[in-house]
Amino acid sequence: MKPMSVRRPSVLIPSIAAALLLGSTACGAEPTPELPGGDTPEVLAPVVWGGEVAKDVDPDPDVVEVWLTSEEKEIDLGGGTVLPMLTYNGLYPGPRIEAKVGDEVVVHFVNGLREPQTIHWHGLRISDQMDGSPRIQSPVEPGDSFEYRFVVPEAGTFWYHPHVRSNVAVERGLQGALVVHDPADPHFDLERVIVVDDLLLNADGTLASFFGSHMEGMHGRWGNVLLTNGRFSELATGEAVVGQAERWRIVNTANARTMSLSVEGADFWVVGTDGGRLPTPYRSSRITVAVGQRYDLEVHYDAVGEVRLYNHVLSSDAQGNTVELALPNLVVDVVDTARAPTEIVWAPKDALPERSVDRSEELVFDAVQGANGLEWRINGVSHGMEPLFTFAEGETVELLLRNTLGPEHPFHLHGQFFAIAGTAQPGLKDTVLVPGMSDVRITAFMDNPGRWMAHCHILEHAELGMMSEIVVTPAP
Ligand code: C2O
Ligand code: CU
Repeated sequence: MKPMSVRRPSVLIPSIAAALLLGSTACGAEPTPELPGGDTPEVLAPVVWGGEVAKDVDPDPDVVEVWLTSEEKEIDLGGGTVLPMLTYNGLYPGPRIEAKVGDEVVVHFVNGLREPQTIHWHGLRISDQMDGSPRIQSPVEPGDSFEYRFVVPEAGTFWYHPHVRSNVAVERGLQGALVVHDPADPHFDLERVIVVDDLLLNADGTLASFFGSHMEGMHGRWGNVLLTNGRFSELATGEAVVGQAERWRIVNTANARTMSLSVEGADFWVVGTDGGRLPTPYRSSRITVAVGQRYDLEVHYDAVGEVRLYNHVLSSDAQGNTVELALPNLVVDVVDTARAPTEIVWAPKDALPERSVDRSEELVFDAVQGANGLEWRINGVSHGMEPLFTFAEGETVELLLRNTLGPEHPFHLHGQFFAIAGTAQPGLKDTVLVPGMSDVRITAFMDNPGRWMAHCHILEHAELGMMSEIVVTPAP
């Protein structure tokens, strides 16, 4: 076995995108939608900024029926950088699916790619038959279609992506947000869905080859340009007025890049995580968003100026020293219209019920150098096909996640939520970052019966074997 390097790749970025933009007049700003005016109707649907919405073709207010066709398409990332991406409905990211809690969602997936594919609904606790796992559903052949049908059981910020050759599929653009609104939530002036991604480009602006370096198998594919809702991040701009209150729904869809984010120039609270609303919002100067994770922020604009969502990335200076750069993922220009500040009042929410632990298990993450190269493993098995554990529905299981090597692992469990032990990262999660050479303890609520994938969300690690399965047997 070869020794693992402990350091994260220090990349980036100052910036292919910026260089390509020189001399360009392109303006990538997404227009701010009209805010609802003075005569406030009784129930306001949220006004959402952040890409296109999938068209709901069913008039029933409790059914969201959409078509998603995957196809290769040239996409302009901004400033004339056009790449052949893989898209849903010709869009990268794919159209946002908007539903409210309890809705039935029907997705007609048509596979216009040259490879079999599935769609996984990341974070939704639905039936395993609809989960997009290629271990359960035979992947949809090119030209074929499949109907996904499920009820969205809880409100929150989720996303969707394929689960076959996921490292290539997701990097090339197959990803989209899925927002489940709770009509009981307070009405914000605006919701911004902010899908943050990166891409690894060659100096000429083309997509770098996959597994082109040892680093990519070791740490995952870290990009060298940042994207916000499918465009170079420096093009992501918005507008707001002093007094406005917004909900930001942040999704990290990168293959591997853990993002360290901050908001400068506005007051904000973390109000939601993977599993939806937090009982107690909290303030934080930085939030660490592992790939796959979501964070909802409540943002208040108190002053005129620019509000920036910064992504703190490691790069090297001319001397080769590691330096941290703050690159904006979004800049909002705030003007004053002497408008009264919006007050946001949340209905009280109960804390997570105390559940005593029924069972404790251990998952050990490591790697070996196999006959065909690097093999990532969970409990000594690469691409484990036998269930690691069988739990009973309703069991509360403490899982000790043990990372014995340097590279970090954002561990993702399908179909269930868990809490991270300790209070530093409150709320329900479906993905947890396990840093290099560290242990993390989670408490998983095995409430959704079925066969579930459990894997590292660094998609290169998953494709190189860091993929396993658990079973939750239904209560009699
Ligand atoms: Cu978002 Cu199995 O993954
Ligand atoms: Cu990993």
